[in-house]
Amino acid sequence: MDSAHPEAHGEMGPLFSPDEKRDPTLRFRSTLRADDLIGRSPPMVELLRQLSLLAPLDVSVLLTGPSGTGKTHVARVMHASSPRAAAGNFVELSCANLPDNLVESELFGAAPGAHSTAVKAVEGKVFAARGGTLLFDEIAELSLPAQAKLLQLLQSREYYPLGASRPRAADVRVIAATNCDLKARVARREFREDLYYRLHVVPIRVPSLAERRDDIPELAQHFCVRACVRHRLPPLHLSQWTLVTAQAASWPGNIRELANAVEAAVIRAAGEDAREVETRHLLPDREVRHDSATPLNYREALRRFQTHLVRGTLEDSNWNVAEAARRLALTRAHIYNLMQTLDISRP
Ligand SMILES: Nc1ncnc2c1ncn2[C@@H]1O[C@H](COP(=O)(O)OP(=O)(O)O)[C@@H](O)[C@H]1O
Ligand SMILES: [Mg+2]
Repeated sequence: MDSAHPEAHGEMGPLFSPDEKRDPTLRFRSTLRADDLIGRSPPMVELLRQLSLLAPLDVSVLLTGPSGTGKTHVARVMHASSPRAAAGNFVELSCANLPDNLVESELFGAAPGAHSTAVKAVEGKVFAARGGTLLFDEIAELSLPAQAKLLQLLQSREYYPLGASRPRAADVRVIAATNCDLKARVARREFREDLYYRLHVVPIRVPSLAERRDDIPELAQHFCVRACVRHRLPPLHLSQWTLVTAQAASWPGNIRELANAVEAAVIRAAGEDAREVETRHLLPDREVRHDSATPLNYREALRRFQTHLVRGTLEDSNWNVAEAARRLALTRAHIYNLMQTLDISRP
């Protein structure tokens, strides 16, 4: 292709290689180290666009999104894709279950004998992450006194290890993650407003799996390969039908739940010496048994798919027909009809 003369392509506009058409995330991925961040759905294109813009910068970033969507994973990618990857480590501080009296020494470290549990010197997370990136995971759980310390750190870029008389420079890039509505916490005065605005300069929302179902097959394959390698099993793959079911199923625990389910499925399938990972391995509770040796005809395959989808949605809605109808964008009458024809009844 004569890329030196883009005008030769007339009204074709910007040039996209065939690869980029197939995977619109490629041009953002080229500036990132995100090979293990699977997905090419529109929400992922947007996420990768933001990451390629922000990863190299030193700004604080607030990652929001439901549990299991990949916030920690994304924070790692940001670090790995930044110049800081060469200069320091990626360090995580989980703010949940962090006792108030330990926050300071966890974060800033302590000189020997500075407090009862610090007989020896304690290395703080800020020091461990020097030159690199420090992730405050579940930041909403940080106590108010600890929030004040963090704000001070962000403003002055200095900190005092416990018992130290001179401040230390804090050379860390801060990323915070939460599955809470921080703004609501601010309204209830559980989270400092000044810290919120300091962190909220660049918010990134990590989408739920329900918002990017198109990524499910690729994710499932990825976790399947990973499980086989991890457990030293012969390479198995997911049947086409299993992929369809996985895509239609609901995963309230998002990618974490999908990853665990696929890993368990691989182990079950290997235990049976199965040739492929089948739906019954992936969703043993919502059993849809069929003999994989006999090919399904179209009508039967469709019926099983519908049964699975409708029953799964009803289960997820606590058998509330109106709710299931809303989720599937059908009328209630249509759901009742489907329940009758597919022989689905509340257990
Ligand atoms: N886009 C993705 N591609 C591949 N694996 C992912 C992706 N997002 C998340 N994961 C994996 O899913 C699991 C849950 O992600 P995690 O970052 O811990 O979620 P969160 O921090 O939002 O609760 C981890 O094992 C992570 O590596
Ligand atoms: Mg996490």
